Amino acid sequence: MIYVAPSLLSADFRTLEKEIKSCEETGCDYLHLDIMDGHFVPNITFGPFIVEFCKKASKLPLDVHLMIENPERYIPDFVKAGADIVVVHAEACVHLHRQIQFIKSFGVKAGVALNPATPLEVLDYVIEDLDLVLLMSVNPGFSGQKFIPAVQDKLRLFKQRYAGRLKQDFLLEVDGGVNDQTVGSLIKAGANMFVSGNYFFQHTDRKHAVKTLKGL
Ligand code: DX5
Ligand code: ZN
Repeated sequence: MIYVAPSLLSADFRTLEKEIKSCEETGCDYLHLDIMDGHFVPNITFGPFIVEFCKKASKLPLDVHLMIENPERYIPDFVKAGADIVVVHAEACVHLHRQIQFIKSFGVKAGVALNPATPLEVLDYVIEDLDLVLLMSVNPGFSGQKFIPAVQDKLRLFKQRYAGRLKQDFLLEVDGGVNDQTVGSLIKAGANMFVSGNYFFQHTDRKHAVKTLKGL
């Protein structure tokens, strides 16, 4: 099973509710919400207020990607706003194990994201606790960037390294530059969840875009 999580960063915010409905109607499985603080990444997006709006506007589970420093300060707010999966960056957590337990203490799913240059090893002692790992295939901060192919090897390595240690419904998510050209190799390499910003929202036939991302 392959899941698609459109990144609302590429949506038209003038008609956000309509855009969210379109995600539901075209077969998407999650809403991917990119939270940026202008410190961890060189861009600022939105906070819990918009997450809360998305929760009201949709039944799709919310995949909240925190690209922020000191995520522990804001995790409770994002959970309260309706996050179903909270993803923190390993690079932003001095106490990664503690942050994962903290997320799980609220009864939501916990994920860890890795920048393109961050080695998998940081997951070695927490992998059993995770519901999701997000491998960045661009440097976080902006949508519409060029795909970094090194993630393909990273995915293969991940599957070998952690075989037998993953939860049953484990999600291996790829984020950044995923489109019809890049998705095939990512599916082959073992990813089962794709974030899509520009490819999905700029496609003239979004249903078709989702099918393509699911490898159908
Ligand atoms: C980048 C974000 C991504 C991004 C995806 O920092 O985490 O979710 O918006 O957009 P595309 O698919 O256009 O690369
Ligand atoms: Zn993201």
